[in-house]
Amino acid sequence: MPDPLIIAIDGPAGAGKSTVAQKLAASLGLTYVDSGATYRAAALKVLEAGIDPNNEGAVAKLIGGTNLQVKSSNGEPRVLVDGTDVTSRLRTPEVTLAAALVSRLPEVRAKLIQIQRSFAQGRGVVMEGRDIGTVVFPRAQLKIFLKADVEERARRRLKQDSSEGRKATLETTAYEIGRRDQLDAERKISPLMAAADSIEIDSTHLQADQVVRHILELLKEKGWAEPA
Ligand code: DC
Repeated sequence: MPDPLIIAIDGPAGAGKSTVAQKLAASLGLTYVDSGATYRAAALKVLEAGIDPNNEGAVAKLIGGTNLQVKSSNGEPRVLVDGTDVTSRLRTPEVTLAAALVSRLPEVRAKLIQIQRSFAQGRGVVMEGRDIGTVVFPRAQLKIFLKADVEERARRRLKQDSSEGRKATLETTAYEIGRRDQLDAERKISPLMAAADSIEIDSTHLQADQVVRHILELLKEKGWAEPA
């Protein structure tokens, strides 16, 4: 039996990874996995326990004893912390910042990487994140590094935030994205970087559907799938 198809989509915050990965998974009949949601779930647990996300020992101990699960329900990714579905609580600014902090800790990464890998056992996935092509699935059949200018990423994030009822300005959003880029790129383990064998796509001037079509063409060229 050939290995199930694994497509890794990495890149900075706001480059369009989630939209592209979801659409791609739907058109290929694969399962979409948002690895960032696992870091956000760990961060939520830390915040709710009243622990400082920078307190490495306390965070490692807490997360070590936490049951984290990712599930797919009708194509929708769900994250469970100790059996409770926390998916709708993962996108607040507090959780976003805490996720960038707890994701620097080796103990947290080691645990979450196992969860991410086990989710793909025996099934094809499109998984998005920061280190999917470099660390989680270094043997993924296709690796995409999706990037976009910081101003464009801030505009997209602002649009998403306002559609979800959060208010922010372009300036603060761009600042916050720049800060997360820095945390993601500078952390010691698994920093954000393109895998040597990844294909870079700049989505600054592209719609999500155009990016998806481009990836489907790449898959066709590699003989893995027919474009829809
Ligand atoms: O993609 P996101 O914004 O939901 O990710 C939340 C945080 O988790 C982000 O600061 C980077 C981190 N992350 C990571 O370190 N590795 C991943 N594979 C995915 C996310």
